[in-house]
Amino acid sequence: MIASRRNFLKGASLASVPFILPSKIWAAETKPNDKLSMAFIGMGIQARGLLNNFLHQDVTVVAICDVDKTRREDGVKRVDGFYKGHADKGTPGNCKSYSDFREVIARKDIDMVCVATPDHWHAYISIAAMKSGKDVYCEKPLTYTINEATAVMDAAKKYNRILQTGAMQRSAFEFRSAAEIVRNGGIGKITHVDCNFGGPSRPHFDPKEDIVMEPGLDFNMWCGGAPLVKYNDKLAPRGVHTFYPMVWRMDDLFGSGYCGDWGAHHLDIAQWGLGMDDSGPVKVTKAVPSAKEKANAAYGGRAQSGAVLEFGNGVKLTHKPFSTFGTVFYGTEGTVSVNRGKFEMKHGDELISRFTKKEDGGSLAGAVTKARKAFLTDSTYKTKLYKTKGGHPADFVTCVKSRKKACSNEVVGARAAVLCHLCNISYVRDSGFDWNPAKNIFANGTGNKNWLTREGGYRGKWSV
Ligand SMILES: NC(=O)c1ccc[n+]([C@@H]2O[C@H](COP(=O)([O-])OP(=O)(O)OC[C@H]3O[C@@H](n4cnc5c(N)ncnc54)[C@H](O)[C@@H]3O)[C@@H](O)[C@H]2O)c1
Repeated sequence: MIASRRNFLKGASLASVPFILPSKIWAAETKPNDKLSMAFIGMGIQARGLLNNFLHQDVTVVAICDVDKTRREDGVKRVDGFYKGHADKGTPGNCKSYSDFREVIARKDIDMVCVATPDHWHAYISIAAMKSGKDVYCEKPLTYTINEATAVMDAAKKYNRILQTGAMQRSAFEFRSAAEIVRNGGIGKITHVDCNFGGPSRPHFDPKEDIVMEPGLDFNMWCGGAPLVKYNDKLAPRGVHTFYPMVWRMDDLFGSGYCGDWGAHHLDIAQWGLGMDDSGPVKVTKAVPSAKEKANAAYGGRAQSGAVLEFGNGVKLTHKPFSTFGTVFYGTEGTVSVNRGKFEMKHGDELISRFTKKEDGGSLAGAVTKARKAFLTDSTYKTKLYKTKGGHPADFVTCVKSRKKACSNEVVGARAAVLCHLCNISYVRDSGFDWNPAKNIFANGTGNKNWLTREGGYRGKWSV
């Protein structure tokens, strides 16, 4: 009897899969009615985009979970609508909606989950899913705290699961090229890096007036391990919204400000270019808040930029405000600057190529390719970085099948999250400190271990 691929993936010694399975078994196993089945947990604006992408992959979406009834029902409608027009991909009516993610995770027939809740839920749900044998695509930042980052790495290893973090800049040509040019010495020895994004998280404030909650939201479950705060329709907006909710992202209790929002992308690219994916900084120097920043009570009197993360090789990474480019590498021989759809390389005094907008003339691909051709030649192109095929979600599906580490695997995602949180902590605690990247703990008697976890502990049974 041929074991089903699903059971095989769950039970086998996964490292040995490609070597012991004859290819004809794989072929028999990939018939459409035994596709990998997938669930979505959190069906907000980001998940809708991901759903649209995953529906076109070699998976069948069988469950949509959201604590908001409107959104989970809308998600199921989208799945059914898609399968009506794509009978080869799935059957309308087979996708179920759930309010409680534990019921989804308990389903044995589900192979993989996409976690796109607010950040404070990422680690708990991802770990629970991996524990029950599911592979996980989890949005960035992978975790809400540093200790959670360690726990997610440990869980992926312990349960032998595939994890992809949604830091999809790693799947984009301009970012991979920037990192490859830097890694292969295109701008000489790296001296420093700038990462440009907005400020840290802010203190939580309840709304002054009571806000009546429209029925259909389990707000207790929305808050999860965070304190059960007063309902706020800005924090947890209702309906099928077409904007990215910023209030929870900027709130100490649920997110880590722009450090976790955009930092999770631009700091991640910095780590890639520096070759620090399995390491991290050794020292964080705090920024001194200006008088204006100090006076801003809504922002907690916190500095909004200027923290410096220093790596063991002496390279300093500075957090600066939003700018044209997200990550800028400075080397002894030039600079490489990159953002979504934007790229620039300078070598000495020479501008090698630049594209930031149509008015610059040329194209992004043209600018990137010109720099690649000049600086990634047969003799210099030694370090080739992970190149995804078909994008980040497709890479996840490929890795679920091959059991190989994904592009933004648990180590990459957790390490990037640690950078986000180190940066955010330095503003929130108005403190600099030494860091031990091997153990993910403060070093040399600096810092405070309570900063590595949720302040005041987790609520109820949602401890990570
Ligand atoms: N990769 C990217 O570029 C990118 C872009 C945007 C957002 N994101 C990330 O995606 C995630 C979601 O962001 P968003 O903007 O879609 O937020 P959102 O608030 O629109 O969506 C989150 C959804 O999760 C639901 N939810 C909350 N608790 C839940 C629980 N316990 N179980 C099930 N559902 C729950 C909410 O009701 C909401 O519908 C965040 O982590 C964010 O950082 C990534």
